[in-house]
Amino acid sequence: MKKLAVLTSGGDAPGMNAAIRAVVRRGIEQGLDVYGVYNGYEGLLEGHIEQMQLGSVGDIIHRGGTMLRTSRSERFKTEEGQQQGIEQLEKLGIEGLVVIGGDGSFQGAKKLGKKGLPVIGIPGTIDNDIAGTEYSIGFSTAVSTAVEAIDKIRDTAYSHEKTTIVEVMGRGAGDIALWAGLCAGAESILIPETPYHIEDIIERMKRGRERGKMHNIIVVAEGVCKAEEISEEIKKRIQLETRVMVLGYLQRGGNPSVYDRMIGSQMGAKAVDLLIEGQHGCMIAVTSGKVIAKSFEQAEKEKHEIDMSLYQLARSLSI
Ligand code: ADP
Ligand code: F6P
Repeated sequence: MKKLAVLTSGGDAPGMNAAIRAVVRRGIEQGLDVYGVYNGYEGLLEGHIEQMQLGSVGDIIHRGGTMLRTSRSERFKTEEGQQQGIEQLEKLGIEGLVVIGGDGSFQGAKKLGKKGLPVIGIPGTIDNDIAGTEYSIGFSTAVSTAVEAIDKIRDTAYSHEKTTIVEVMGRGAGDIALWAGLCAGAESILIPETPYHIEDIIERMKRGRERGKMHNIIVVAEGVCKAEEISEEIKKRIQLETRVMVLGYLQRGGNPSVYDRMIGSQMGAKAVDLLIEGQHGCMIAVTSGKVIAKSFEQAEKEKHEIDMSLYQLARSLSI
């Protein structure tokens, strides 16, 4: 392996820059030429690829987003798109690719792998919903951002004695809602992994009111429903003024946490080491807190599972 490339794909996540930096710096340290592919798979098939130097990744470890930028590419989902991407790499003599992204990006990476390109996937998505790993880059920062926002919402909810329904990201996974809800002391948390009962939410609110607690925070993952719908359901059943707050893209931005920088750095360096050793067709995963390599095949057999004991803990602490 003399030349490798790195790209970021799908939703950006804080800590992706730390991983890019690690790929570039470890690669150069090991005597390789390292290329950056701009704009994810869309940039790959367009040939938007540039050689990186040590300085190209200077001053990025603390920044959110991704310096390589990212995309969602419909063209790349086609056979021709993937072939075009491979040809762009071949033109530059690039023999290996590191893909930093979510589940969809890994599907793309696997297809490139099947066409003979050595690929390694690095899990990067704030949703933390990738099968085969306990952790995906960006989750810790996104949860902290959500908690900080809910803390602020709580101040005003308390002062005005209002109920606020906060919608957080997470299409298919409730990890952000669960962690943010638990750490911000939400009265109810709604996640896609388990059904919610509106009567239970109301009951909790009534119990609080009996104790003189006139404000509530309800956290709902976007994969459950819109916060507005919960607000309407509540208003139908109880005379209470509600407010709705959709945190949206706020959760994807911001300076990465220490953990996201650490995991990003470890994963980036590991990906390069594996390619040098001739190992590919795998992802970097966190298992029992350790950064390891895991074949895509093995990862596919595993399912991302939310920690339901945390859900029970949240319920028992917000009686
Ligand atoms: P994420 O990687 O964050 O889950 P997406 O699901 O949007 O984000 O996937 C990112 C990109 O990966 C897509 O825009 C597409 O280019 C590529 N991709 C997703 N699924 C596939 C697939 N089944 N085959 C090939 N490429 C795919
Ligand atoms: O995959 C991460 C994520 O932030 C999801 O939680 C969210 O539904 C999605 O990306 C939205 O991304 P976009 O609007 O960029 O498609």
